[in-house]
Amino acid sequence: MEVWPGELPPGRDWLIEHVRDAEGLLCLLTDRIDAELLASARELRVISNFAVGCDNIDLAAAAERGIVVGRTPDVLTDATADLTIALMLAVARHLPAAEQHARSGEWRTWEPAGWLGLELRGATLAIVGPGRIGRAVATRAEAFGMDVTLVGRTTELRTSLAGADVVSLHAPLTAATRHLIDAATLRAMRPGAILINTSRGGLIDQTALRIALESGHLGGAGLDVTDPEPPAPEDPLLGAPNLIVLPHIGSATHKARAAMTQRSVENLLAGLEGEPLPYPQPLVASESQQSSR
Ligand code: DGY
Repeated sequence: MEVWPGELPPGRDWLIEHVRDAEGLLCLLTDRIDAELLASARELRVISNFAVGCDNIDLAAAAERGIVVGRTPDVLTDATADLTIALMLAVARHLPAAEQHARSGEWRTWEPAGWLGLELRGATLAIVGPGRIGRAVATRAEAFGMDVTLVGRTTELRTSLAGADVVSLHAPLTAATRHLIDAATLRAMRPGAILINTSRGGLIDQTALRIALESGHLGGAGLDVTDPEPPAPEDPLLGAPNLIVLPHIGSATHKARAAMTQRSVENLLAGLEGEPLPYPQPLVASESQQSSR
């Protein structure tokens, strides 16, 4: 067994060289496992991804080579759904700016019309991607009194978004969902609406998002994921108004990460033994994954 010792992801050359003779690979979502890398990995039989989303892996190329792919479903559902609600509340009630205000000495008095935000009870939430995480968010949102709409592959996206005060993304990143939220979709959203993304950054055209925030058309956005990760410090998106950006921490609870570790090891060992993976990723990415997170 070889373990990459660095704190940052391994460089491409290191990965290609060390996967060359490996029979199993346990990788993170920061490792790009593409056709070129797989072509050089002649012995590889199993890839165990330490994540539920497998957009970092070329699934078709893996399937062609008979390499099975495992992932870690279910165990991060609650952690990610909790964080989604936390982001929603933080954006809706301007928490980072209000906290900064309280600390900075600018806070002078209680104001009847100060810091007004969206009240969740009675607000409409559109959940794009009604898989495990999307449904767990729906349960929480309903407890807050929100009116929840689940938006799946067969739903007309722009019409559903037009009626929502908050839109939350829970679809996997595939060729079909890349930039699902583009300028036209953002224009279709209700003025003042809030966009939350705890799925994958590539679902959103970030330039279009920045413009929608700067123009005031969107009331705010909360992103736990960006494209790329991390965004460049000089990325103008980071200066957009009422935007919260987190460093991809949806599954970052002790419980979820311990369970992800367990599942990814079980997948790896099963694959090395030539047994069916306990938590397999369907071999070819398709839109049907939209509800499988
Ligand atoms: C996943 O597992 O896909 C998550 O994004 C990790 O937090």
